[in-house]
Amino acid sequence: MVRVPARLAESPTMPASETPAGSAHAKAILIGEHAAVYGHPAIALPITPLRTVAEVHRSPGPLRLNSAGRSLAVSELPGRFASVGVAATTALEFFGLPPADLEIAVRSGIPPQAGLGASAAAANAIVEAVRSYAGLALDEADRFELVQAAERVAHGNPSGIDAYAARALEPFLFAAGVASPLPLGAPVRFVVADTGVRASTDEAVTGVRQLVDTDPDHGSALLARLGELTREAAGNLEHGRLSDFGKRLSIAQEILTELGVGHPAIDRLVTAAESAGAAGAKLTGAGRGGCVIAVTGDADQAQQVQTAMTAAGAVAVWIVTAGAT
Ligand code: MEV
Repeated sequence: MVRVPARLAESPTMPASETPAGSAHAKAILIGEHAAVYGHPAIALPITPLRTVAEVHRSPGPLRLNSAGRSLAVSELPGRFASVGVAATTALEFFGLPPADLEIAVRSGIPPQAGLGASAAAANAIVEAVRSYAGLALDEADRFELVQAAERVAHGNPSGIDAYAARALEPFLFAAGVASPLPLGAPVRFVVADTGVRASTDEAVTGVRQLVDTDPDHGSALLARLGELTREAAGNLEHGRLSDFGKRLSIAQEILTELGVGHPAIDRLVTAAESAGAAGAKLTGAGRGGCVIAVTGDADQAQQVQTAMTAAGAVAVWIVTAGAT
């Protein structure tokens, strides 16, 4: 059961004349990924400028999905789009609508398999587009469950943090399925950089599971340490202690590498960020590729870190400010 905190994106009922649509955004996990799957806390930050939009159009025949101009029947979707198909069919079923005579068009501005929550954002956007098409209300617990159904297809055992983050408007602490707003004592500037290495969340989560099964004492101790670091990091953020917060991120990176979700391209970006003055840096999301997040000070330092990460091979870099007044 998920507690719904103060600020989630609103879902206004759309006038019948407009195309039924939904949208959701990317996220970055600041700390606690993988440990979250085992009930430990994690902290996530919405990245609202990176969005996915879904629209429902009438189209005769079986239910179709259109992505980047390519339209396929849901039954023909390749494996990597299976979760998006499940989001569509499950949402239609929930509202008592047949999976036919519709095409759902999805436009994503979120790089896939990069740790930024692209699959959860797509599922959220589709669920909202279908809700709008149905013209019915959807409470937050049911919405979350519909997105989780799709996320289970994307990666077996999702903690729920991605499903929640795709609609959250503020940083939040997520612990054992419960999300609580995390007030920041000072604004924080993050640099998020994409290694360009695409990685499967499913494989990363499965790899950690195998490590924990093979060596339960060691694996559980690493995950518990991540949980402890997350709680300490939440305190650092609340009190505006960014240098301490950054140090905890860098320690978390070492633990994540020990859990087997590191990658040489991640190491290169982490080293570049720290050498350029970042207070700390680590992978974000499932790892084994994807994005790195670095904590920086003022705008000049963020620029320096951005330049250094680009020089170290980042294929895209975003500066995200949280808690700005
Ligand atoms: C993926 O963004 C975060 C993981 O912790 C998986 C999850 O929490 O569902 C790796």
